[in-house]
Amino acid sequence: MMRRIHHVGVVVKHLKEAYAFYRGVLGLPLVREAEITDQGVRAALLAAGESELELLEPLGPDTPVGRFLARRGEGLHHLCFEAYDVGASLAELARRGVPMLDRVPRAGLAGQIGFLHPTACSGVLVEIATPPAPADEERPSPLRLKRLVIGAGDVGVTAGIFQSLFGFTEVAMNGGPRTMLAVGRGTLLVVPAHEVGGTAGIVALSFVAEDFFALTAALRRAGVPRLDGTGEVTVEPAASHGVHLHISRYMFP
Ligand code: CO
Repeated sequence: MMRRIHHVGVVVKHLKEAYAFYRGVLGLPLVREAEITDQGVRAALLAAGESELELLEPLGPDTPVGRFLARRGEGLHHLCFEAYDVGASLAELARRGVPMLDRVPRAGLAGQIGFLHPTACSGVLVEIATPPAPADEERPSPLRLKRLVIGAGDVGVTAGIFQSLFGFTEVAMNGGPRTMLAVGRGTLLVVPAHEVGGTAGIVALSFVAEDFFALTAALRRAGVPRLDGTGEVTVEPAASHGVHLHISRYMFP
């Protein structure tokens, strides 16, 4: 039913400032930028492998994203799956009694889009999109989005909701109270909220770097606060506009 993680939405104060980090330091190519007045945002899509990062700047404080920014600050906001037919997917979810914000698609930055109600997926705001061109080609990008970490009060319940609503399959893991679901070439990793500071919802993003040494050099040059590990780096959320960002050389399941 869902082809891939189309994008992950990040709320920022100013696109221009966020560009300095995401385009300037990380080198993510800009796909498209536009004002979406009915959503009250100026938004930009940046390529990250088969997925994209959507930066959202509120047009004013009295917009849904403006209120999110005032309440929670900059950071991860929603995730979007690509459907073959967003209209059919929204109708089917509504028919199954899933709480929806949109029952019919409308125009968004990613094409025709619709949102589920945040209560539908354990507090994770989920968007579904069908881009204008079928089978968007993967754009060259120095980073590929590989994984989204989701904190859950009950891992089994939350993973079960994503499996049942979107048909994702579970990736075998070596035990532990975690569940990994495959979405296209990416994954959702559902972990107990108490392991991630009590946060339920999207808590972190993992990228894989095509050239890890060039990436760490760029982070060093820009003086980005981070934690350097072996073959992976964790960027301080203060530098990445509120996003917990892990970038690795390789990605193991
Ligand atoms: Co979006």
